[in-house]
Amino acid sequence: MKKTKKILLSEKEMPTQWYNIVADMPNKPLPALHPGTKLPLKKEDLVPLFARELINQEFATEPYIEIPDEVQELYKIWRATPLVRAYALEKALDTPAKIYFKNEGTSPAGSHKPNTAIPQAYYNYKQGIKRMTTETGGGQWGTALSFACQHFGIDLKVFMVKVSYGQKPYRKLMMNTWGADVIPSPSTLTEAGRKILQEHPDSSGSLGIAISEAVEMAARDPYTNYSLGSVLNHVLLHQTIIGEEAILQMQKAEAEPDIIIGCFGGGSNFAGISFPFIREKLKKNKNTRIIAVEPQSCPKLTRGQFHYDFGDSVGLTPLLPMYTLGHDFQPADIHAGGLRYHGAGMIVSQLLKDRLIEAVAIPQLETFKAGILFAQTEGIIPAPESTHAIAQTIREALIAKEERKEKTILFNLSGHGMIDLFAYEQYLNGNLSDFQIPDIEINRSLKGLDKLM
Ligand SMILES: Cc1ncc(COP(=O)(O)O)c(C=O)c1O
Repeated sequence: MKKTKKILLSEKEMPTQWYNIVADMPNKPLPALHPGTKLPLKKEDLVPLFARELINQEFATEPYIEIPDEVQELYKIWRATPLVRAYALEKALDTPAKIYFKNEGTSPAGSHKPNTAIPQAYYNYKQGIKRMTTETGGGQWGTALSFACQHFGIDLKVFMVKVSYGQKPYRKLMMNTWGADVIPSPSTLTEAGRKILQEHPDSSGSLGIAISEAVEMAARDPYTNYSLGSVLNHVLLHQTIIGEEAILQMQKAEAEPDIIIGCFGGGSNFAGISFPFIREKLKKNKNTRIIAVEPQSCPKLTRGQFHYDFGDSVGLTPLLPMYTLGHDFQPADIHAGGLRYHGAGMIVSQLLKDRLIEAVAIPQLETFKAGILFAQTEGIIPAPESTHAIAQTIREALIAKEERKEKTILFNLSGHGMIDLFAYEQYLNGNLSDFQIPDIEINRSLKGLDKLM
């Protein structure tokens, strides 16, 4: 019998709604707080930064939200993404586990990020917004929003974390090709950037700092809106198209995942693949394991604290109830730039607190080793972020082998690594290392949280 490798969906089968897990959560996330008054955030507080419809989605409590027709049309450029059975990886691991992955690397920008970039640009365009700002870590989010803003005729300024700006020049060129202006962060264009540079002239930047710069620039111009590529509820909502498709595709494959795995920066690709399956887990009382994978060098889920904290480094954003390492935590310069973030989304944080999901932290060298095995077996060079999900998949597949159990594992391949080959060069030349952070450093950073509330 011929084996089915790739499971697709026809246009007619495509999901037409995003799933809002808040409706089904046993404990709802605590409210975000206004950074000045420390009172629960109101919709009006976000009007200077976000399009009205995105604000409504941020506060939404209904379980499903229709995907606008225009967004569905644009999704068709690359969606549905393929669900792939990783037979060759299974064989190399000699595991009884069945491994499936959802390939989000097939989007124009090369990752899952356009799933939210397109609707965010669309709602801003509908509101007549002509200029937007954002930040980018590894460059994936910046490229995705550049692609989306270019489509809707919106000018975009991207603050790119300085270390990634140096490591990933082709990401910058992709953004430029789609018409965006890219600035290495910290920069001298904003007060936030100038403050950081005064204190740390050699700062290599962080997502937190770049967010501060992008928010500040949008807040001071009434005609400019801001856009975030992860963390916030509406961003996670848009990504659920991944899991909704995956449910239909797994049904076609006549398989059901026992374990679902996603790498974790702020939580958006992880939420995308897992939230629709968590709905099934809750409604049908299943014991599916859902695992978020973070870098050992930025371990907010496994070593951080559940606490109110700022989403950025300087303290311009609302205070969010989340797992955090403290907003001035400075992560090591690992190549998985998109995972160098101190905090986590409010929804995913609450789910972890309630033990509906698990978290693990993996060292950098293990992730690259996993990425190379994946490239050599399945043929796709994964983004350094995605290698974290692969490394955990391999760990689980090897446990299945030891236990002689036939488990089904589904992971999200959040992006390809064709623009990250410099990172692979560094790994292959033996120039990369692991970063184990001493407790003392984490405790110092967490101490700052006590002063916030
Ligand atoms: C390929 C890829 N995967 C994962 C992430 C992590 O972000 P999130 O947790 O929002 O999915 C990023 C962020 O830039 C990314 O580019």
